[in-house]
Amino acid sequence: MKKTTAIVLGLCTSLAAGVAVSQEAGSAAVEARHHQMEMIAYNTGILGGMAKGEMDYNAEMATSAATNLHAMAMLDRATLWVEGTEQGAVEGSRAKAEIWSDPETFDAKFKALQDASAAMMEVAGTDLDGLKGGMGAIGKACGDCHDTFRGPRN
Ligand code: HEC
Repeated sequence: MKKTTAIVLGLCTSLAAGVAVSQEAGSAAVEARHHQMEMIAYNTGILGGMAKGEMDYNAEMATSAATNLHAMAMLDRATLWVEGTEQGAVEGSRAKAEIWSDPETFDAKFKALQDASAAMMEVAGTDLDGLKGGMGAIGKACGDCHDTFRGPRN
């Protein structure tokens, strides 16, 4: 009898977990995707710094920044962009609920960054003009997605 109750309770818990993310798991996912975005911003900052002349152009560093930016844009999103972790549901999140109600558009906006960073990998190491030429599409990809899918400051 007791064993049955325990099994039923266990089942209920796992069923509940299926529909709603626990606060703890939700916070971990939000934190992890913030790290993804910070890595994206860090590497974009190096490329942007060189493009603006705030940093000396260095072909090896530029190629590395483009490669890392691309790798971060390619991360599989299932463990990071977990449904139920939108702004308001989990502290610190600025992710709009539309990410999950309109996943095709979110995918397309991530794809824009994947494509722009892949193109940057080809040109960043050639010379400063090549790098500058690749910069616009990257900046546009960030802004386009933030305008649509990032909520106001918490
Ligand atoms: C496909 C959508 C998308 C693209 C492309 C994108 N971002 Fe984001 N970014 C977001 C969303 C959504 C958030 C808010 C996430 C949250 O709070 O859960 C965010 C948050 C951030 C943050 C804040 C991270 C933190 O620690 O709170 C930074 C910085 C950032 N993005 C930089 C960038 C830069 C730089 C680019 C372009 C090189 C970029 N992002 C491209 C969707 C995107």
